[in-house]
This record gives sequence, C-alpha cells and structure tokens, in this order.
Amino acid sequence: MCGIVGAVGKVKNYSKFVLDGLASLDYRGYDSAGVSFLNNNQEFACYKVVGTVDDLRKKIPNKVEASSAIGHTRWATHGQPTLNNAHPISSMHGLFNLVHNGVIENYRSLKKKLLEKGYTLKGETDTEIIANILEYIYLKNPHDVLIAIERLMKILKGSYALAILFKEEPNKLYFAKKDSPLIIAESEKASYLASDPLPLIKYSQKFIDVEDGEYGYLTKDVIRLLINGKEVEKKYTERNLQLLNKDLGGYSDYMLKEIEETPQVISRLLIKYFDGHNFTFDDYLLNELRNAEHITFLACGTSYHASLVGERYFRLLGKRSETFIASEWAYEPIFSNKNQVFILISQSGETADLIKCQKIINNRGMINIAITNTMASTLDREATFTLYLEAGLEVAVASTKAFSAQVTLLALLVSALFNNTSVIESLHSLNNVLLNIINRQEEIADLANEIYKYNLIFFIGRGSDYIAAKEASLKMKEITYIHSEAFPGGELKHGPIALVDNKTALLAFDSDAKTDLAIRNNAKEVETRRGHIYIISIKELAKEGDAFNVNFVSPNLSVIPMVYVSQYLAYYVAKNKKVNIDKPRNLAKSVTVE
Ligand code: M6R
Repeated sequence: MCGIVGAVGKVKNYSKFVLDGLASLDYRGYDSAGVSFLNNNQEFACYKVVGTVDDLRKKIPNKVEASSAIGHTRWATHGQPTLNNAHPISSMHGLFNLVHNGVIENYRSLKKKLLEKGYTLKGETDTEIIANILEYIYLKNPHDVLIAIERLMKILKGSYALAILFKEEPNKLYFAKKDSPLIIAESEKASYLASDPLPLIKYSQKFIDVEDGEYGYLTKDVIRLLINGKEVEKKYTERNLQLLNKDLGGYSDYMLKEIEETPQVISRLLIKYFDGHNFTFDDYLLNELRNAEHITFLACGTSYHASLVGERYFRLLGKRSETFIASEWAYEPIFSNKNQVFILISQSGETADLIKCQKIINNRGMINIAITNTMASTLDREATFTLYLEAGLEVAVASTKAFSAQVTLLALLVSALFNNTSVIESLHSLNNVLLNIINRQEEIADLANEIYKYNLIFFIGRGSDYIAAKEASLKMKEITYIHSEAFPGGELKHGPIALVDNKTALLAFDSDAKTDLAIRNNAKEVETRRGHIYIISIKELAKEGDAFNVNFVSPNLSVIPMVYVSQYLAYYVAKNKKVNIDKPRNLAKSVTVE
C-alpha cells in the first residue's frame, strides 16, 4: 500500500503538486505523510507528520523553491506510525532521501549487515534499510547512482516502488520498481511519477507504466528506463480519464456518493457489453469459456464475494466452478487436468495477493481473465483478457459500486455464453429496484439507529443470500468496527448460536422462495434465545414486522439489492458512530502488500 509521488523540472508550484497528489492517493494509506524538496543548492527540505495529508498541508509553505520533490502517504507495515518511520527516509550521511511502497522481506539480514558496518538507524522501517544500503553501495563503488540502484535491486528481496532524490543531482529523480505499481508521466517542462495516474492527470496524459525490474531516472526532459544495465524503450499506455473523476459532487462522503452511482454504473455496463441486439464480448473469450470444463475464481475481500456469485452462475450452467481467496491459493495453487480457465476479480487491479496468483498462472501459460475497474493496472496488463467494470473511480475504502458492477458484469458474461438476452430486461428492472431503495434510504437510516447500539451483529442467508450476508458483514465490521459475522442460516445451530444473547442483533436476508421458510425459522431460533432479529426480504416474501423489503428482482440478481441495502445500513450505522466513513482505521483502499 502507501502512495508515492515525485516530480523534477519546472513544476509551477511544487507544494501544490505534492500535497494535492498525496491527497488524491491517501486512500492507499493515511497513517503518516511526508515530503522532501531538493533545491539547486543541494539542500533538502523535509516535512513529515503522523496523520493525514491535511495535517501535512499545515506545515508546508505555499511556495517552495525546488528542483525536484518526492512525497509519501503511508500505510504502516514495518514500524509503527511515528515521525521516525514516516517517509521520506534519509540515508545516514544524508546523500539520499527516498520514499517506498512495498515490503522488503530480507530487511532483517540487511539491517544486521548495516549495523556491523557502523550504520546507525533512527526508525524501524524496511525503507531505512533501503536508503542506507543504497548509500553504502554508492560510496563504496564508483559513485554512480544508476549502478548503485542496479546493485541494490539485486540485493533486495520483496516488493518496492521507489522514488529517490540524490543530494548532488537536484535535477534528477531516480526510481526503481518491482511488484509495486509505479507510473511515469511526461510533460514539456517537467517529469512526474506516482503510484497511480490520479496525481498526474492534471499535468500530463502521456503515461508510462514502469515494469518489474525497471529502474532509471527522470529529468525535466529525459526519461531513462533500464533493466539490468540495458536501456528499455518507453511504451505509452492509455487511461480513461473521464472515469478518474474524484469530485465529491456535493456529497458528504465518497461512500454515499459511490453507493448512489451504482444504477449509473449498471447502465454503463449494459451499454458497453450489449449493443441493443447482441452481446459485444470478444468471441474468442466467449469460446474459451464455453469450452472450459473448470472455472476457477480468485479474489480478495468484496471481490471474493462477487466471485462467489460468479462461481454460482457457472455452476448453474452445469460447469465445475470454484472460488479461492487469492492469498490462500497462492501458497497452494491447484491446477486440474481439465480445460481450466481462471477468472481474477479486483477493483484496483493491484491487490498483491491476487497478482501473486496471476504470476503463478502465467508461468504455467494458462488463460486468465481479469475483471477490474482499473485500466492499465498490473492485473490488466498481465491478463489474457480483461473486462472493465466501468465503475469510475472508487475512493471510499469500503467497496460498494464495484461489487454491483462485478456481479452485473458476471451476469452479462454468463448470459452471453448462450446468448440469453433476458438478462438485459432483468438488469433494467434491477436499476429501478435500486432507485427505489435510494428513495427509501431514510427507512434504512432509521434501522441503523437501532442497530448501531449492538456490539455483535450476525448476518445470515441461504444460497445467494448467504453471499449477501458475507458481504454485508464485511461492510459492517469494516466501517463501523462492530463485531460482525456471517453464517449460512442452517449453520447457526451447529455452534455460533451459543454466542447469542439479548445484546445480539441478527439480520436475515430472505430473497428466495425456496429458502424463505427455513431462513425465517433460523431467525426465530435466535429470537427465542433473546436475540433481536431484523429480516430484509423481497416484497413477494415479506411478512409483517420485517425490517425492510425490496421490490421483485430476478432471483439470480437478488444479491445486488440485498447487498445494496446492507451498504446503506453500514453507512448509516457508521454515521451514528461518528467515525471516518471513507477512511476506516487500519485499512487502505489498494492492498499492494502481501
Ligand atoms: O481492489 P480489490 O478488489 O482487489 O480489493 C480487494 C479487497 O481488498 C477489498 O474488496 C476490500 O475487502 C474492501 N475494502 C471491502 O470493502
């Protein structure tokens, strides 16, 4: 995680570039923030805070004389969020200032060597080890930073995107990349880099994605890229800038805005993947899926829950399909001797656990389909095929519109396999159901007024309602900090019901006539044990006393409105608790470390 930015050359206002850039990246982490400016007199000016970019802003002059600059917003991995551990990190002799996104796995042994060589360290980060090893190599070898970086990269094990300022060359900005995202932007009078395009789009639209193993430097008008000492040709990549809008649009929080953008996103997907008569998916891709005997989904968090829905869709078609949490599969990859296709789902396209799986799959030369919201992300670049979610930027750490987009896209894809166009009508009416929920959100806010007092919340469901329960529970714990768990309705009595007392709330999803009776019985069992039950049903199954109901929607899509209600519910519970909804504690939006 962590976000990094850097610039060199004639930047109109360095403070503004770095601070606005970091603010746009703070969804990658917000434990601490910092910046280093380097001027033509070879003087560093470094500012750091434990806290957010807004706190940093208060410390930095509006105008700073600089020839180059780097900045960082941190999600702490090694070392607590303290000033000493905040980036930029300076090397002991002060030759280098650098910022890092990633994790160095062999930092302990490197630290030992540094201490033996007489280096003293101020903090506990793996980044301080990088800065000092780099300085050590530089001073020992023929004083060439590029050679020192090349050697450094041979020593480091782990992941890194590095932006490095060297005191004696204020007009150069060095960088190196392995397994953490890094993008360069070229413009007439300056060159820039960042963890993603957001901080850069105001300055340039000529992007270069730095690939693993690449390093080099930027100057005002030169971009030098190398790999193992050899020059690499620059390749420009495109971004859909319209979808990178970060405007709050009058909303108080991104989460609420993003929940309410969902119907728009579904419409956009309908336009993109159906031309009014036919589905527009790539024929080759559809054939691969038709011929596949075994579909394996890999994902994390909310994307994992969307994958469970996809798994169900393929199972209903009679195909063998399964879903793994990426971080589990990566350490025990399972390949079948059947014709196997992998589907990798990720909003950010940068989730380290998933990228690790993709590497394993690519090393076996197997087909992997990426479903992502982020064009030119690592997942996109390395996939056999990519399907874009078209959801627009998702800023709130809690994923909302991306989930609905993932499920919608999967429903379209599966329908396209057999040219089943009835899904189009169902998706149009789904949008009406969601609009109706938007209009009735006050009812959900009232429900939240009751729910927020509990310190244990269970969600239950059966079939696709169980998947909704899992996603609802993740949302609730993630942004409200209330302990929450999800269970298949039938499992409660096999153990978890022991936890129930009069301080427990149970929310049951009931959207399927097949399981209506069973799930209501499960809820009753909890009520009998003094738990407080709240049933979210579809109108056709609604009974007096239900907490909320939604209009009819096709059974295969009902997971979307059920989850939609739960997104509002978590949102309003968090509002009641007066916590930071968009940036919940301990989390970051883009999880680029394992
Ligand atoms: O970007 P991804 O979809 O790969 O992210 C996966 C999870 O980190 C993510 O869904 C996380 O669980 C969300 N914060 C949930 O709201």
